[in-house]
Amino acid sequence: MAKLALLIRGTALLLCLLVFQAANSLRFAIDKKWIPPFRLKVARFRSCLLGPNFPEWLKSQSNIEVLVLSNANLDDIIPDWFWVTFSQASFLQASGNKLHGSLPAQLPINIVRLNLSSNSLSGSLPSELNAPLLEELLLANNQFIGTIPSSICQLTKLKRLDLSGNQLTGDIMQCQKELVPNSTDQFGSDMLSLALNNNDLTGEFPKFLQRSSGLMFLDLSYNRLFGGLPEWLPQKMPHLKILRVRSNMFSGHIPKSLTSLHGLHYLDIAHNKITGSIPWSLSNLKAMMTVVSHDTGDYIYEESIPVITKDQKRDYTFAIYQLLVVLDLSSNSLAGQIPKEMPLLIGLTNLNLSNNHLTGAIPNKIGDLRQLDSLDLSFNEFSGSIPSSLSALTYLSHLNLSYNNLSGAIPSGQQLQALDNQMYIYIGNPGLCGDPVSRNCSTHDAEQSALEDIDHIPSVYLAMSIGFVVVCGQFSAPC
Ligand SMILES: *[C@@H]1O[C@H](CO)[C@@H](O)[C@H](O)[C@H]1NC(C)=O
Ligand SMILES: *[C@@H]1O[C@H](CO)[C@@H](O)[C@H](O)[C@H]1NC(C)=O
Ligand SMILES: *[C@@H]1O[C@H](CO)[C@@H](O)[C@H](O)[C@H]1NC(C)=O
Ligand SMILES: *[C@@H]1O[C@H](CO)[C@@H](O)[C@H](O)[C@H]1NC(C)=O
Ligand SMILES: *[C@@H]1O[C@H](CO)[C@@H](O)[C@H](O)[C@H]1NC(C)=O
Ligand SMILES: *[C@@H]1O[C@H](CO)[C@@H](O)[C@H](O)[C@H]1NC(C)=O
Repeated sequence: MAKLALLIRGTALLLCLLVFQAANSLRFAIDKKWIPPFRLKVARFRSCLLGPNFPEWLKSQSNIEVLVLSNANLDDIIPDWFWVTFSQASFLQASGNKLHGSLPAQLPINIVRLNLSSNSLSGSLPSELNAPLLEELLLANNQFIGTIPSSICQLTKLKRLDLSGNQLTGDIMQCQKELVPNSTDQFGSDMLSLALNNNDLTGEFPKFLQRSSGLMFLDLSYNRLFGGLPEWLPQKMPHLKILRVRSNMFSGHIPKSLTSLHGLHYLDIAHNKITGSIPWSLSNLKAMMTVVSHDTGDYIYEESIPVITKDQKRDYTFAIYQLLVVLDLSSNSLAGQIPKEMPLLIGLTNLNLSNNHLTGAIPNKIGDLRQLDSLDLSFNEFSGSIPSSLSALTYLSHLNLSYNNLSGAIPSGQQLQALDNQMYIYIGNPGLCGDPVSRNCSTHDAEQSALEDIDHIPSVYLAMSIGFVVVCGQFSAPC
């Protein structure tokens, strides 16, 4: 306790660095009846073993403004006094414990940020929520049930809302009643990040997002949403970087005007009922035309979003997506050809077009996608030969061309031959020949492949300036 006393002078308490160390974690053992002789304003106990019981001595700390109890090994019900004692708090974070209980209607009146993600909280979300200053409400990975109450729509200052990984049912909030044009003080108008994924929500794409002109992250995946992806999406959310609507029942076409989403580098609409063709505008997404640096140095997502510190980085919502440039359109009902310009998306690390009805040839310039780690074109109706440029993909660790109508010789190349499950990359294309499939290539196959490769060369060359197409080459107009 002597050491503890030394710390009391400051307002911030970083006990864990100074108290006893047990194994890899820091243990903080305090007498249950201890009444601390100080009043803290800031108390941070990240990754301290405070639990399993909720620390009783905090009950006296009614001056607390900032309290961090994340990953503190707490396995207890949130005590009744918690919301009373900390009624002046503006920042409460107790994520990554096993706290149970429910969320009270009366949150601390000055609360700005609340993070109770990854606990065992249950019950429904309160139908009244009085927290006019709340900017960040993170309740992911708990066991909340019931519908999303309309009280959420009163939180007009919200910048980040994460209700993912719960058991929420019913209609996704539309917050339409409050849809007053031109007013800035409305739900959604300050939103930067919204995660409602992994619930059991129904309804159409949320309409309030029309006001979320600053939105950067949207995850609605793994629900039962239906209807179209709105045509207004690109215009109304021009700052979107990550869009995940995977595993829903969205139908209709991919919005055409996607080109205006300059920052979009992660688009996952897999496992829906999307029809039509892949719009040309998809090949024009600026952020996918840029190679992301692979060095793992500090990456600060955006100034307006709280800075990610080094130790926090790994489990931060965005972090897992940051270095990925993803286009996943798999398991829909897309038809037509791959736009010839798609190889312009040279930043792509993952491209999955599997399980659609795509036809035509694989673009010869597919080898321009040098950053590709994974390419899945399986279960389509692609025909023609496999472009030899594929062997230029040196980062490729997963390739699947199975169950198409590809023919001719399989290109050789060290990278392709180093891939696992060789046979299963090409299975279901009876026209293919050469290593690793069993059919030997005849002279006819070889000539055919060579011919097709040449055929593609003069196809389309794109000038660097976006949208300006020059068609030239040895078989058409001279350059
Ligand atoms: C909220 O808590 C989760 C779970 O511990 C954590 O991964 C996340 O980084 C926290 N978010 C913020 C903004 O601190
Ligand atoms: C809203 O703003 C637009 C242009 O910014 C203007 O044309 C329109 O009249 C405004 N509507 C109202 C209700 O103020
Ligand atoms: C591509 O998508 C299909 C269908 O959604 C999925 O089964 C497959 O695992 C995905 N491929 C990769 C490499 O993730
Ligand atoms: C397979 O591709 C060949 C051309 O390579 C074409 O003649 C044939 O119709 C295609 N078969 C199917 C089922 O699409
Ligand atoms: C490609 O996909 C098919 C169908 O899902 C699967 O059977 C095969 O194992 C996959 N190949 C590889 C190399 O993963
Ligand atoms: C394929 O060619 C190899 C030699 O290049 C030969 O040994 C083998 O018997 C041939 N297989 C078939 C099925 O024709």
